[in-house]
Amino acid sequence: MQGRPLIVALDFETKQEVTSFLTRFPNENLFLKVGMELFYREGPRLIYELKEQGHQLFLDLKLHDIPTTVKRAMSQLAKLEVDLVNVHALGGVNMMIAAKEGLEAGTNMGKVAPPCIAVTQLTSTTPEMLLHELDVQTKLDKHVIHLCDQVSKAELAGVVCSALEVPVIQEKFSSSFLTITPGIRRQEDSTDDQARVVTPTKAKLLGSTGIVVGRGITRAKDPVTAYYHYLQEWGK
Ligand code: C5P
Repeated sequence: MQGRPLIVALDFETKQEVTSFLTRFPNENLFLKVGMELFYREGPRLIYELKEQGHQLFLDLKLHDIPTTVKRAMSQLAKLEVDLVNVHALGGVNMMIAAKEGLEAGTNMGKVAPPCIAVTQLTSTTPEMLLHELDVQTKLDKHVIHLCDQVSKAELAGVVCSALEVPVIQEKFSSSFLTITPGIRRQEDSTDDQARVVTPTKAKLLGSTGIVVGRGITRAKDPVTAYYHYLQEWGK
């Protein structure tokens, strides 16, 4: 993954919806995020088609299983030649190392394995959940940094996190540690169900490596204009 991408989250259910969204961008090579919802329905064929159209892809499947299974699964995903993949840091250091090994083992001849990043705690996890449901006694922000430490030990490329967490993470880890941040909204957009949103300008100031934007673009009245507004604020 190169540069500071603006990643558009394709949170659609079907390929038809994806196609009708992308026909609005006939001359743009975008960085797109395909998540579980779409991948479980449309499968690898959609990934090949999007790559063929010249787009870069973040395959957001958040793998979390025993190391052997994750290694084998990553080896399969590597063959899709996507540009970014991810796992749950809660799977542990050995699982994260296995993910990387699987990616390297499955990468097609002459290609480079994509970077793998880790989700620390989901943004839907509240401090109450962490304490009462997961029985984690550490405060949420400290726990996130602890998980970043594990990600760094496994030598993964970085994390998915809130832009608000980026300064602390960057202070603690190397400058090449990726911080990919969802929860991005322009000032005038609705926050939807995101609890803590940050504008593209603020994400840039806080030092995010890449931003993920879904509804701010995909559900906008004019997605193309919205995309360029986000891009302009984020800078290229
Ligand atoms: O529509 P919105 O911009 O809120 O979408 C953000 C995208 O980022 C969605 O695909 C969501 O699943 C994803 N995401 C997130 N928070 C995380 C991890 C992923 O919002 N911590």
